[in-house]
Amino acid sequence: MATLGVNIDHIANVRQARKTVEPDPVQFAFLAELGGADSITVHLREDRRHIQDRDVFLLKETIKTKLNLEMAATEEMLEIAKKILPNYVTLVPEKREEVTTEGGLDVKNNMQNLEKIVGNLKDSNIEVSAFIDPFGDQINYCKEIGFNFIELHTGKYSELSGTEQYKELQRIIESTHLANDLGLVVNAGHGLNYNNVKKIASINNMNELNIGHSIVARALAIGLEKSVREMKSLITSN
Ligand code: PXP
Repeated sequence: MATLGVNIDHIANVRQARKTVEPDPVQFAFLAELGGADSITVHLREDRRHIQDRDVFLLKETIKTKLNLEMAATEEMLEIAKKILPNYVTLVPEKREEVTTEGGLDVKNNMQNLEKIVGNLKDSNIEVSAFIDPFGDQINYCKEIGFNFIELHTGKYSELSGTEQYKELQRIIESTHLANDLGLVVNAGHGLNYNNVKKIASINNMNELNIGHSIVARALAIGLEKSVREMKSLITSN
């Protein structure tokens, strides 16, 4: 059965909207673990738009599950990862102008750099995953480079419907089997929500699903009424 990695970047998005101290992603990681999260994922971006260095260091100290650090394959991030020593690193492509991670990593055309970064992380006993689109050639190159895991990009599956979604699901299933045959552990994520997660979760040998946006959106839906009630009570009681 697949496990659940909870991505808490959106908590930091709210904090950074005011550049203040709340909400603190470290505190929310604790709540995610209480809810059953099997790992906590954060993406430390080059532009530090949401998660900050301090968050990642504190998460490593405080979480009880596993820390999955998403990062670009750069020297700056490599040095930070070697200091933090997360349980694993997921290498993702990163563009400054994007709102969220768009496509998967182009492993095939970045072999040299990826080999260097992956080798370096593995020397520090950090397991490494590649966030890739569900294509056979990318999976073969991941194996060649020495990645331990892959994370299949489910963004396209999440956006499609009907026959097109079914075809994309088949592509994800075939990619999972191919990667398993090569000895790679398979995770998946991006755009998964309460309506579309089950088909991905039931793929044989799916290891972990990384989910952020829909969980944080649901938290607001479940929690807003109570937080307004508390504020109203403070204002109206004497
Ligand atoms: N996996 C990766 C590699 C991501 O970049 C993201 C988004 O930060 C996710 C999973 C989670 O996607 P979502 O927020 O749409 O659930």
